[in-house]
Amino acid sequence: MEETIKNLNKLKKERNAVILAHIYQLPEIHDVADFVGDSLDLSRKAAQTNADVIVFCGVHFMAETASILSPKKKVLIPDVNAGCPMADMITAEKLKEFKSQYKNPVVIAYVNTSAMVKAESDICCTSSNAVNVVKSIANNSDIIFVPDRNLGEYVQKTSNIKMNIWNGFCPTHNNFIIPEYILKAKKEHPSAEILVHPECRSEVISLADYVMSTGIMCRHVAKSAAKEFIIGTEMGILYKLKKDNPSKKFYPISHLTICPNMKKITLAKVLDVLINMKNVISVPENIRQKAYIPISKMLKIAPQS
Ligand code: 13P
Ligand code: SF4
Repeated sequence: MEETIKNLNKLKKERNAVILAHIYQLPEIHDVADFVGDSLDLSRKAAQTNADVIVFCGVHFMAETASILSPKKKVLIPDVNAGCPMADMITAEKLKEFKSQYKNPVVIAYVNTSAMVKAESDICCTSSNAVNVVKSIANNSDIIFVPDRNLGEYVQKTSNIKMNIWNGFCPTHNNFIIPEYILKAKKEHPSAEILVHPECRSEVISLADYVMSTGIMCRHVAKSAAKEFIIGTEMGILYKLKKDNPSKKFYPISHLTICPNMKKITLAKVLDVLINMKNVISVPENIRQKAYIPISKMLKIAPQS
């Protein structure tokens, strides 16, 4: 491991590369990354960096978003099979058909979508700025929200703005975070704050103290006077929370909350792509230009405070 890290650091310098990692990544990836963050912060970093090469430790749509924002940079993904099943629940064809059912559709695409779907959308959002994105849209439009039904319902309820929501979901959050587990955790740790991700089902959200993106959760925990937290999102976040807040205690709602795709990225694969400059993300230029518009609009919208 030490040897791998040494080689990695040497190569990073030689190639002028930066390692960006999502919060759900394995601890070994957190430790070598130049920046660890949520989807919105990672997009912002990808747009701003002066590096020539971005090694994106996350799932495919995240690396693709980085490449759309920075077409002159080489964006490498350590495992091409690290996809997002929720993103695969909508295609550009299905979205076009959905749009054709409305007179004046405005499409909000969660960033967990392919470049082709983004190219058919008006504005993107992440879980940290989704409510503000919806509020930014003129209220005489037919708003379409794809693909996450749980995030869509949460945003609709919080903003009080009616939307037409696609029926997609994240298997990790939807299937493995259930009310029974929260009630059990709450009984065991009565003074803990309950934080959940908006990709959880509404029955779960209604039991939480706070609903937050992964990045906002990390910032909230650092500021909170609470000493204990029940965490309702993918397990990878626990490493960062514990590392950044050693005096606080964290309890996952379920030990099953693992995103198998995020976990496909290993240190050996990061080194391999940097040595061989392989797994370069490429988006056809006509699609990239169209997808760039909703992504850049998203970057102008602030996260929830
Ligand atoms: P965040 O934007 O909160 O990082 O979420 C990304 C994601 O894929 C959650 O499952
Ligand atoms: Fe996709 Fe869910 Fe994994 Fe996030 S946790 S990348 S939404 S499958």
